[in-house]
Amino acid sequence: MSRKPFIGGNWKLNGSKKFIAEMSKVFNEAELDSEKVDVCIAPPFVYLETLRNALRKDWIVSAQNCTEKPKGAFTAEISVGMLQDIGIDWVILGHSERRHIYKESHELIGEKTKKALENGMSVIFCIGETREEREKNLTNQVLIEQLAPIKDIPDWSNIVIAYEPVWAIGTGLVATPAQAEEAHLFLRGWFSENISTDVSEKLRIIYGGSVKPQNSTELIKKPNVDGFLVGGASLQPGFVEIVKNVI
Ligand code: G3P
Repeated sequence: MSRKPFIGGNWKLNGSKKFIAEMSKVFNEAELDSEKVDVCIAPPFVYLETLRNALRKDWIVSAQNCTEKPKGAFTAEISVGMLQDIGIDWVILGHSERRHIYKESHELIGEKTKKALENGMSVIFCIGETREEREKNLTNQVLIEQLAPIKDIPDWSNIVIAYEPVWAIGTGLVATPAQAEEAHLFLRGWFSENISTDVSEKLRIIYGGSVKPQNSTELIKKPNVDGFLVGGASLQPGFVEIVKNVI
């Protein structure tokens, strides 16, 4: 089963109007066939519209989070409706920094994901274990716990799963291709057993955690690695090489 590769760039708390103008020029000039790969950039909220207006239209612009609330007294939150109001219909949810720094629970992330999907968004759903959990051989258990709140969603066609081992994020300690494939194969099996074979075969499971142009070529060769969610390297022109490496 061939799945269209998906490469996301998560800018996290980085960027400026000047940076967007510079990087959009680099990205827009890249000769890439968007029929062969989906590419997504996720800037901070305040730059979503600026990036949407500057970036090539065959690339996706995604939010890095959103609330499950539709409107009201929820200071500083951003709703699905507001994202859609400015032409944004993708959102990253459950990123490890939202889970471990800002203490978003599995249940809250599940509720956000359901509300986003119900309202027409597409979601990059992030899961992954910490170093301690891996060392205790709890990886699979943790992944199952993180998936549990969304197990009953009716339609999986608008979701990408991002496996991001926390110990590989921002550390330069990238998972080996074998480690990534092991986790992705487990996830593919979980989806086949708990959702359906059809969903399992069609679902894109992407890897995140210190992906660079140099290591992306070996990682993407693994049959269950369908792409990447890239942090630091997505802020560099070399991000284009990561995209080209999967085509
Ligand atoms: O969401 C992707 C991110 O967590 C990975 O970060 O800097 O290790 O590529 P980085």
